[in-house]
This record gives sequence, structure tokens and C-alpha cells, in this order.
Amino acid sequence: MRIPQLAVAVLFLLIASAASVQAQPPGVPAPPTSAVGERRIEDLLGRMTLEEKLGQMSQTLFPKGLPDKTKDEIRQGRWGSLFNLGTPDEKAEAQRIARKESRLGIPLIFGQDVIHGYRTVFPIPLGQAASWDPELVRRAARISAREAYADGIQWTFSPMLDIARDPRWGRVAESLGEDPHLCGVLGAAMVRGYQGDSLDAPGSIAACGKHYVGYGAAEGGRDYNTTWIPQNLLREVYLKPFQSAREAGVVTFMTGFNDLNGVPASGNVFTVRQVLRDEWRFDGFVVSDYTSITELIEHGYAADAKDAALKALRAGVDMEMVSTSYHDHAPSLIGSGRLDPKLIDESVRNILRVKTRLGLFDRETSPVNPAGPLAPDALDVARSLAAESLVLLKNQGRALPLAQSTVKVAVIGPLADSPEDQVGTWALNGDRYAVRTPRAAIQQVLGPERVAWVSGLKTSRDTSRDGFASATEAARNSDVVLLFLGEEAILSGEAHARAFLNLPGAQEDLVNEVAKAGKPMIAVILAGRPLTFHSIASKFDAILYAWHPGTMGGPAIADAIFGAAVPSGKLPITFPRTVGQVPIYYSHKNTGRPPSPRDLGIPLGTALNPTGFVSQYLDVDFTPEYPFGFGLSYTRFEYSNLQLSTRQVVMNGGLTVSADVANVGPYEAGEVVQLYTRDLVGSTTRPVRELKSFRRVRLKPGQKETVEFRLSTRDLAFVNDRMQWITEPGRFHVWIASDAVSGLVGEFEVGGEAR
Ligand code: NOJ
Repeated sequence: MRIPQLAVAVLFLLIASAASVQAQPPGVPAPPTSAVGERRIEDLLGRMTLEEKLGQMSQTLFPKGLPDKTKDEIRQGRWGSLFNLGTPDEKAEAQRIARKESRLGIPLIFGQDVIHGYRTVFPIPLGQAASWDPELVRRAARISAREAYADGIQWTFSPMLDIARDPRWGRVAESLGEDPHLCGVLGAAMVRGYQGDSLDAPGSIAACGKHYVGYGAAEGGRDYNTTWIPQNLLREVYLKPFQSAREAGVVTFMTGFNDLNGVPASGNVFTVRQVLRDEWRFDGFVVSDYTSITELIEHGYAADAKDAALKALRAGVDMEMVSTSYHDHAPSLIGSGRLDPKLIDESVRNILRVKTRLGLFDRETSPVNPAGPLAPDALDVARSLAAESLVLLKNQGRALPLAQSTVKVAVIGPLADSPEDQVGTWALNGDRYAVRTPRAAIQQVLGPERVAWVSGLKTSRDTSRDGFASATEAARNSDVVLLFLGEEAILSGEAHARAFLNLPGAQEDLVNEVAKAGKPMIAVILAGRPLTFHSIASKFDAILYAWHPGTMGGPAIADAIFGAAVPSGKLPITFPRTVGQVPIYYSHKNTGRPPSPRDLGIPLGTALNPTGFVSQYLDVDFTPEYPFGFGLSYTRFEYSNLQLSTRQVVMNGGLTVSADVANVGPYEAGEVVQLYTRDLVGSTTRPVRELKSFRRVRLKPGQKETVEFRLSTRDLAFVNDRMQWITEPGRFHVWIASDAVSGLVGEFEVGGEAR
């Protein structure tokens, strides 16, 4: 049946007029620069030569030993920033030269990748995200800032805010997972931690939201690869965490390496100039990634370095990391009239504004650095965060926790005693000697004589079976086997993509061999990404996912194993059954032919789909191995009594949604209560679920709490086909849940005209 066109037009107008277009962004401004500060910037700008301006816009690696050549360059104003290397004394000396011996006394800004800790290493960001604990994540960032600041660092290239929906991508380890809300909340918490209440206070450093934007959507999970992201998805999902960081007052952003919809991120006028500057009114500065400006040539977007500089400058990238195209070519671009010199002034203003906010013009240059042992509060936060990041994936027959009276334990596996791997991908300055491994921590709990420790494999990639016999022997002589499996740190991180997600090396064979001893088996998996281990999962009574947990990973894991702490982490990313399901994420669209639970468990390899032509696989279930938001506990939480304050919500109004959460098991424990919605009909289709809020509660055995969420119609907005944020009237489902595929469901309707 054809609906008359006029009726369609009328219907559209009705929907459009009833819907509420949201002004974006709401936004808290970045910390203001004082009037005196702004005057100083203008005064300096008026006195700077072009050469000096371009110097401010240039960043290079801190050269080893701070050679005389670099000292001279600093005197000449050749560099605005040095990064990643240099001792505290060298930094102090470089800063002294910049402030006292350069013509205008403009300070340098020292940057560094302080990603998940500095001397004290916290879990990798993906692990931190599994804690769903913004306050603890903020405290970890605060400690990182304090430790980095003491070494003369003023700026970290963190948080990484890339949405990661592909575990093959090595940088999934550095991400906060697949969901824009979770990533935004935790990313903002990191910004607050690094920058503190006041950016110029001791112990505060500038944060940097990266990699702006879309970098995580690399095709095939291959690092640096092309990204294609339609604008509505870009705004709703990929830009969202950056917007949250902006609202939290982040003072710098870094543009990515990726080609985004045909325009590389480091030359992208739309994302940098339009969205970041014009729409979000960002007044800090934007740095390129490492040579990402001259890589515009490789992308086929710029003819040469001069063209690359022009394109990046026009896009609004203020500072060039490592490559030197701005310095080398901006003068002739201005001379030939192709580059408006006002763009240079704008960039310098942005950079000087951040230096002013950090108090660099007035700060003492001497390093603080009394590098003693790691501070007790740092170790406490590292232990708590590692504990909260642990996700219990399986616990058959209450295999965990183990009683401390367990007579003898076999500790087996390549990740049980490997400090380098335990700290994860970014631990440039991590204090290796402070790292406490699971092997050491378990021996401390039980005493060395009750722990039989055999690695079985030298590394996660080892394929030799030479260690199998002694591992099996240790298992035979023990009451329970703890297997520490996973991935070495170097298998994740930048440029470390994998095409397979299985346990590398001969780890599966080791598991099968050790299983022959017939003892209860517990797996603890340390990894930088979701791994697939379906075929051996049945061999284990319990599986604990520990990510790369950092300095205090060992004690945190031992606490969980022996019940001193109860696991409460929830997956920040979907775990596939097999790499062939990737990309797989909870917030997908329904399709016109969604599979149903009837389609589950069809014998693998069935040639024809017996239940019809629906969106699924012939050789594996369409569902994930473990869904987003999932994580078990030693206790049991019961959800009941879903209440909605109203089922008819006025546009621009809101409702409260609540449920009772009761601890009906034997342990006091934390639970992450999650709120999801679904917009049932939209002018563009909506995902089957979207996380809108979450809250961590801690309940004693027998305790019940009513957990309440406020939901406004603004939270229900999405980007329509005209690229406007809009809340449309209509029916919505709402869940209060303990993961993305279960929960108590209710329904409400948003109606009426926009107020
Ligand atoms: C390249 C990486 O992509 C970026 O995340 C990092 O901050 C810079 N290198 C500096 O090390």
C-alpha cells in the first residue's frame, strides 16, 4: 500500500514540531584564563617574530642528554614543547634557558605519555574501565599527575577517548571500551584527576583528549587504518567522549593518524575547526599526533610537506609533533598569500593560553623529584583499582574464593610471575621493582611451602612443551590449580594488532595437559584485550579476567582468590565467541531480520539455517561469549520492583526510574547497577539498547537498596538525518540491569510539544 505523499509530509512536520532539538553542547567552559593572562598573551603576540611563533607551534622529542645544539635552539625560541624523555634535571635546565635566556622568556611545556600511571602503574585503561568507578579512576589519574609533576612533566597525552569495538586493534588496551557514555564518564574523571581543581597548583598537569577522532574504528582492527564513520554515528558515539572531556575542562586535544571519511583527522576542517572550535567553543590547543601532519602526504591528501602544513593549519591543528612542516613552510605559505597569518596567531594564542593556565610563566623551574619508594596512598589506589577491575566470568560450584586452609596450590602459567607483562602497554616510567606479581602475592598468603610454582611456558607465545611435565606434576601434587594465562604486554598497544584473539603459543595445550591431573582448575587471564578461549573454558571451574593489572595486580588477584575482596568488575567491551563475529557490540541496530533465541544452539556447521532467513551465523551463535556490562560476584544480587515515576513524560521533562537491588548471597560486595533505554521508533533507527547511566553500590549480605536514576528527555536525544541532536516523541523501553542483555524492563512514552 502506498501512503499519499501529502500525508507523509504532514506526519513528518508533526513529528518534527513535537520533537525537541537540543542545543549542543551544554558544556562547562574550560578553566578561565585571567584578564592579566590574556593581556600577557596579546602583549607577547605583538612582540613575537614569525619564527618565534612557529617555534611555539613545534614540538620535538626531548633529545638525549640535552645537547648544546638544543640549548641554543631553546634560546632562539625554536621549540614550544619537548616530550617523553629527559631527566628532571635536564627539564629544569631546559626550562631555565627558555625562561631566562630566550628573548621573550616563554616557557616550554614538557609532555609525556602518562597513560595508566607513572611510577605507580595502574591497570591498563581497559581494565580501569571494567571498574566502572569514576572516583577511583579520578584518584588514580591524580596520583599519576602528582608523580609525573614531581619529575617535571606538565602535560600528559591522556585520556585516550577512542571508542573501541574491535579487540583485534592493539590500542583497545588503552581505550575505555566500546560505549560512549562509559568512556565519557571515565574520560572526564581522568581529566579531573590530572588537571585537579586548579591547573596551576602543584601536582596538576594538563590532560589531552586523544585521538581526535574516530581512530578506534580502524578497518580490520589494523592500527592506523582507514575509518569510515557516518556523521550521525560520529557525533553520537565517537565524538561523545571527547565532548565529555571538553565539558570536564580538558585543555588540549590530539588529532589522530586516521583517514576519517576521506579526510585525515590531522587535516580535518570539519572535526577540528567546525566541531571542536565553533560548536564546542574549545579555547585550549590541539596537537597533532607523531608526524601525523606530514603523513597527510602518505594518505594522498597533501602533495608535499608544504601542502600538508597548509592543510593542517587551515584545519586548526596548533602544534606539530615531531615533523617540522610548520616551521619549514609556513613563512613561504604566508609570503605567497596562501596562508592567512591570523591562523598562526590563533594557534599561538591557544598554546600560550594553556601555558598561562598551567602557571608555567610563574612556576619554579627546579624539579621536585625526591624519588623514594612509592607512596602508600598510591599503592592503595593501585590495589583497589586492580581489584575493582577484576571481572569474574565463571564460578561454577562456588569454586572461588578458595579457603586459606586449602592445603596446596599449584600456580602455573607464563603470566603468574612476569612483572613486565603485568604492567601492560604504557609503563615507560613504571617502577619495575615495585611490581608485585600474583605468584609472590599467593606465596605471601599461603607461605612458599604450600605453593608449587611452575611456569609451564616461558612466555605467552612459547610453543615448547618442555615445561608441561613439571606443570602437570605440580598439579597432581596440589589440591587446586591456578593457571595464569593470557597475553604478554607487547601483544597489545600501538601498532600491535592481532588477527586472532586466541590464547597465543601453546597455552591451550598446557591447559589440556594440566587438566589431566583431574584437579579443580581456576584460570586468571591477564591480557590487553578481550581474548577468545571458548574451547577450553569448560575445563575451568572459575575464570577471572584481570587485564594487565599494574603494580599491585598480584595482591589484588590474591585478595580475590582468597575472598579478601569480592570481584565486582563489569566488562566495558563485548567478548566475542570467535574473531569472526567482530565487530560485535551491545548497542547494535536490530536489523529488519533479527535472530531470536530460537536460533541459539543450532548445531555448528548446519548447512542451511533451519529457522529461516535471519541475521545470524551458520557456524556459531550470534550472541557474544560474554556481553557488555557482564561480571559475576561471589554473592548474588537480586533486582526487583522496577518503578517509573511516570509513564507519560513531557518533552523537556524527565522521570525517575528505580529498582530494588538486594544482596541475597553470603558476601558483602559491590555491584554496578546499569540503566539502559531503547527508543522504539525513530526518524532514524535506534540501537537495541543504550547505556544512559550507572551506579556502583556496596551491599552487605541481606541488605537491599533502592537505586534511583533520573532520566531527562535530553538524555534520549540522538542525531537525526539533518545532523541535529533531537529527542522525538514516542515509546521507550527502559532497563535497570546488571548487564546489557538482561534486567528489569519498563516502558514510558515521551509526548507533547517541546516546552
Ligand atoms: C603516538 C601515539 O599515537 C600517541 O598516542 C602518543 O601520545 C604519541 N605517539 C606520543 O608518544
